[in-house]
Amino acid sequence: MSDFEPFYDVNRTYEDNYAQGPFGAFAEALKSGTAGEEEELGKAGESFLGQPVNLAFGIPAGPLLNSRYTTAAFRMGFDLATYKTVRSRAWGCNPFPNVLAVHPTSADGSLTPGSAELDEGVLADTNYEQPISISNSFGVPSQNPDVWQPDMKAAIAAAGPGQVLVPSFQGSRVEGMSEEDYIADHATTARLVKETGAKLMVMNTSCPNEGHNRLLCHNPLLVGRITEAVKNEIGDTPLMIKLAFIPSDDDLELMVRSTVGRGTVQGFSTINTISAKLVDKDGNQALPGAGRDRSGVCGSAIRGAGLEMVRRLAALRERLGLDFAINGVGGVVSPEDYAAYKAAGADSVMSATGAMWDAELAHKIKASL
Ligand SMILES: Cc1cc2nc3c(=O)[nH]c(=O)nc-3n(C[C@H](O)[C@H](O)[C@H](O)COP(=O)(O)O)c2cc1C
Repeated sequence: MSDFEPFYDVNRTYEDNYAQGPFGAFAEALKSGTAGEEEELGKAGESFLGQPVNLAFGIPAGPLLNSRYTTAAFRMGFDLATYKTVRSRAWGCNPFPNVLAVHPTSADGSLTPGSAELDEGVLADTNYEQPISISNSFGVPSQNPDVWQPDMKAAIAAAGPGQVLVPSFQGSRVEGMSEEDYIADHATTARLVKETGAKLMVMNTSCPNEGHNRLLCHNPLLVGRITEAVKNEIGDTPLMIKLAFIPSDDDLELMVRSTVGRGTVQGFSTINTISAKLVDKDGNQALPGAGRDRSGVCGSAIRGAGLEMVRRLAALRERLGLDFAINGVGGVVSPEDYAAYKAAGADSVMSATGAMWDAELAHKIKASL
């Protein structure tokens, strides 16, 4: 892997990546070429939340830090490029390092939600190997809206024919905030996103915002109230919610009923990372600093969990007779993984870790169809 340069360089700080990236093939694509020029597949019926696209495949919130990254992604044939999650205010990043390679012990390298290994410790180090699994620990940093709003506008304008810029946002919980303030912060951020000219948006409910290892999406009724406030702000602009793995079928059904069932949400994107205790080869905490004994794992290890969530959501959609989009995310590193998500019921598919380690992934998937 030594001659390989991911477009997000895990050996540099987040701030350096923001200021200097993207790197590798994405940097080359940014210097030359026009968005989407050779990508037209002319496939009938491909769309994302009502927007026609060449292929409903792309990169989810995370490695595309600003408009230079999203524009490069478009030029590399990723027709859906998600602008990394923004907030209503500037927000700092967790200390470096933010990414480590992870090595689950199972024969196929998978991590199963609820398994003992997640609490006992998974080896994490800097030996990046294929099929790639990593941990990411950023804390969802954001620029101030004064910075990200004009940049998001530029990102939207850089989409080629059949390509869509997907904005991602989330609420921010700060000391002394009431629940009403927290709900209002989501609505404010959604309005700031809409002001950029966004045609749709994804709201992240799956980062550990609610305290150690507790996620907003584990509280479906609160998500229901938040999406109602957001809907009041953005009107008919389609809203997708990003979900982590939700183990209980009852909770998942309650999530669907309290959002789609009330007309506030048009789709789900799932999954986000799976939380695991990360240890070095001596069994010590792998990431430095308080509160970082656990971190989110993504990439190949979580594909089984992602496919399971998509299958369960597709079954609920059928049983409840509701109409919503499913965006499949988690461990897509090859055309076969893309096909598996489509077969599981996903309307669109995205890859973060897989795309970071293979800038040609969109081209490979298109060539396989
Ligand atoms: C470097 C990195 C940063 C991420 N940051 C975010 C984020 O800001 N918001 C979000 O909703 N998900 C974030 N994610 C999660 C991804 O969107 C995705 O759900 C997860 O990585 C699983 O997909 P994968 O296996 O293809 O990586 C991030 C992932 C990576 C790799």
